[in-house]
Amino acid sequence: MKSADSNKPIPDSTPLMELSTAYWGSQALFTAIRLRLFEYLSKGPQRIDSLALLMATHPRSTRLLVNACSALGLISEEPDGFRNSELSQTYLVPGTDFYLGNSIRYSDDLFEIWAQLEASVKSAKPSIPPETYLGGKASNTEHFVYGMHNRALAIGGVLTNLVDLSECRQLLDIGAGPGTFSGLFVQRYPHLRAIALDLPDIAAIGKKIIKSMGVDANVDTLPGDYMTTDFPDNNDAVLISGVFHRESELTCQDLVKRAVISLTSNGILAIVDVFTDKGNTSPLFPTLFGLNMMLTAENGGVHADVDVENWMAAEGMIGTKIIPFPSPMPHRIVIGRKNNN
Ligand SMILES: C[S@@+](CC[C@H](N)C(=O)[O-])C[C@H]1O[C@@H](n2cnc3c(N)ncnc32)[C@H](O)[C@@H]1O
Repeated sequence: MKSADSNKPIPDSTPLMELSTAYWGSQALFTAIRLRLFEYLSKGPQRIDSLALLMATHPRSTRLLVNACSALGLISEEPDGFRNSELSQTYLVPGTDFYLGNSIRYSDDLFEIWAQLEASVKSAKPSIPPETYLGGKASNTEHFVYGMHNRALAIGGVLTNLVDLSECRQLLDIGAGPGTFSGLFVQRYPHLRAIALDLPDIAAIGKKIIKSMGVDANVDTLPGDYMTTDFPDNNDAVLISGVFHRESELTCQDLVKRAVISLTSNGILAIVDVFTDKGNTSPLFPTLFGLNMMLTAENGGVHADVDVENWMAAEGMIGTKIIPFPSPMPHRIVIGRKNNN
């Protein structure tokens, strides 16, 4: 296509149309999960009428929903009825190893919050009370903590491969959430003891999760506030994962300072998060993630990995480096060692 007043081709508008309707697909997925579509199909194929009975939905609208789910690659229609695709069977069936439903339910919970983006951009305030997910509302908190657990289980093997704690006896996990990373590290290094610090309501759910992982003998929960609670000392390693995206630069710098003080000499500080590149305008996912955090946390946003590396160096950490998780995982680790001198 060419513009009316020149021969210059005008750009294809498809990306804009796709962007403006992207949430239609998200809602189809959320609704199918809420109606337990993938759970019902996990046991075998089902036709529309029986699906509608199981999900307590209207047959006509059920047909429209499953058609859309088919087109999205979530299910497929076979001669004997609808079946889960391999993707849905692997990730969307509750109780299975790779279940992502809790993480997706967290995105579902956030849908209405994203509709408040304009107000949040104007006011620089989150559109929900930040404590909603931190104990304020029990069901949201539960989705959030179990969602973090599922996500941490999915990426934890990568983290424990990338951060070598073989020489460490004590790990302090600040803002540990479910405590899954502590649990995975002590499973890998049986001589390691971990202390998982988080807010009391989160630590209480974390305690159950740590027990369910069979690591409660080696992981202690420490209910507290990382702003004010004194960090235990003698840590050979400190992990701060998924915390910096909630906090201002000043708080992050303070956490780095106090974490470094709590380390033994030569101790390791590993800061894991979704970070942008220098300058904060790429890649795409972290920039959108920054908006998500702005909407949900008082000082939420996203930091650049090189800035975090500089904050560590300013506290005398040596050998600092940035280690990206393998694609498509958006996380990166900024890691360094405490100077012996
Ligand atoms: C995104 S989660 C990360 C959890 C875990 N580290 C992980 O990476 O899976 C951030 C955690 O910080 C905790 N948190 C937020 N503010 C806190 C505070 N003031 N003191 C202690 N923990 C806090 C939250 O409760 C939440 O568990």
